[in-house]
Amino acid sequence: MIIVLDFGSQFSHLIARRIRDLGVRAEILHFNALRQEIMKWNPAGVILSGGPRSVCDIDYIRPQQDVFELGIPVLGICYGAQVMARMLGGVVRRGDAREYGREIITLHQKNDLFRGLLKREPVWFSHGDHVHMLPSGFEQTASTGVCANAAFSHYARSLYGVQFHPEVVHTKKGSKIFSNFLFTVCKAKKDWQIPQLKEQFLSSLKEEIGDSHVVMAISGGVDSLVAATLLHRAIGKQLHGVFVDTGLLRKNEKEEVAREINKQGFHDIRIADASQTFLERLSGIEDPEEKRKIIGHTFIHVFERTIAYDFKQFPVRFLAQGTIYPDRIESAEALRSAEKIKSHHNLALPERFGFKILEPLRDLYKDEVRKLGEELRLPKKLLWRHPFPGPGLAIRIVGEVTNARLEMLREADAIYVEELRASGEYQKIWQAFAVLLPLKTVGVMGDARTYEHIIALRAVTSVDGMTADWHRMPDELLERISNRIVREVKGVNRVLYDITQKPPATIEYE
Ligand code: XMP
Repeated sequence: MIIVLDFGSQFSHLIARRIRDLGVRAEILHFNALRQEIMKWNPAGVILSGGPRSVCDIDYIRPQQDVFELGIPVLGICYGAQVMARMLGGVVRRGDAREYGREIITLHQKNDLFRGLLKREPVWFSHGDHVHMLPSGFEQTASTGVCANAAFSHYARSLYGVQFHPEVVHTKKGSKIFSNFLFTVCKAKKDWQIPQLKEQFLSSLKEEIGDSHVVMAISGGVDSLVAATLLHRAIGKQLHGVFVDTGLLRKNEKEEVAREINKQGFHDIRIADASQTFLERLSGIEDPEEKRKIIGHTFIHVFERTIAYDFKQFPVRFLAQGTIYPDRIESAEALRSAEKIKSHHNLALPERFGFKILEPLRDLYKDEVRKLGEELRLPKKLLWRHPFPGPGLAIRIVGEVTNARLEMLREADAIYVEELRASGEYQKIWQAFAVLLPLKTVGVMGDARTYEHIIALRAVTSVDGMTADWHRMPDELLERISNRIVREVKGVNRVLYDITQKPPATIEYE
């Protein structure tokens, strides 16, 4: 296993995912984790992430000094490389030739880290500072036209620094560099493979739960469905679940999830049709935060009622949740900027039930959850759907949620997603969805003037939803989608494509 010390980079989770993709466990710890916190994992190596700060500041953030004396290899990436250089006696300067984006590095020697790479390789930079003078004992291993020490190492101490980012896709041989670090430098063991993890999860769930019973709410999203399926395999009849139909799901979603629930042969999963309740409580509400609150509370209310009435004869001790790794381990930067932009993540159940919380997927990333779902033989189409927010379509209807508006949005969204799937574009996108704007504009259809709604189409690429870029969509595909929506969805006469990044915009509209 490998420890990633997080200096607030938006890429820290990406580093951990790259390592896990190579079959090695990776855990993210705060940048100043103590020696004993690190060593209790018995890691084969440590990676220092990048970060937005500058080591040229007087109060620069740094790891514990003894991180370089643990007797295991250390790889510093970007800020991590600069902090290593500075703490060990080198000199870092603010860059005058600021290197950003794609660059070509020239390798000076084929050290272990760069085994199998060509003399010149494309890599990706994102920091202005650079290591001006190496600490003693270090050698320069790669450079670019403006950055002499683009990579450096101290072989005897197994310390490596790279000024560029091997974790991003623009660094073509990034995965090879990680693989060299893991298996050649650190001699790490492969201890993170989904089929074996499934077996481990099953046996530890059995052991933890024993004869007790577990309750769980199923939202229709991937995480809760995979968690429920895993639990069902582990404890069968001791699992009791409720699939809450909020009426805010996408077209055919309820039917698909219900079909899967039946197919999996769950013993006791109830389908609670609460769509009317949700709609009534949302009536007249326009404020996004108010909507989120109402939906969260209504969801809990429906779930609580089921627990209190339908499951009261069972010795329930646990409440299972589909929490995943990034929900638990926020990046250091995210923790610092604690002010919430939206009251996200889905309200916890009141504590008065006194249940112990069970989080079977707490150590997994989304793509690992999906692979686990495939191991559990859930259908790919369900597993690889784009993420969908808890409050559902309610936060994609700007303004009041009504049945008619839901209907319009569902139809437009279904056409959009159908075309994206048919053209193969769907897999290139992190999230794509339609939004209904509370505006009417004038149009002309045949000979008649129309005065109808606007649909906005959103499609973004992202690593984890924290930042996002708008997806460059082929024109002819956009045209086909727009034509179909205006022709087929009653009440819509105009379609817009959103070209805003996050930040400054958010992914969802509310
Ligand atoms: P924003 O709109 O904040 O979204 O850029 C970032 C990611 O979070 C999802 N999202 C939510 N998920 N409950 C959820 O479960 C929420 O209230 C919520 N709001 C946004 C959003 O879909 C995107 O993936």
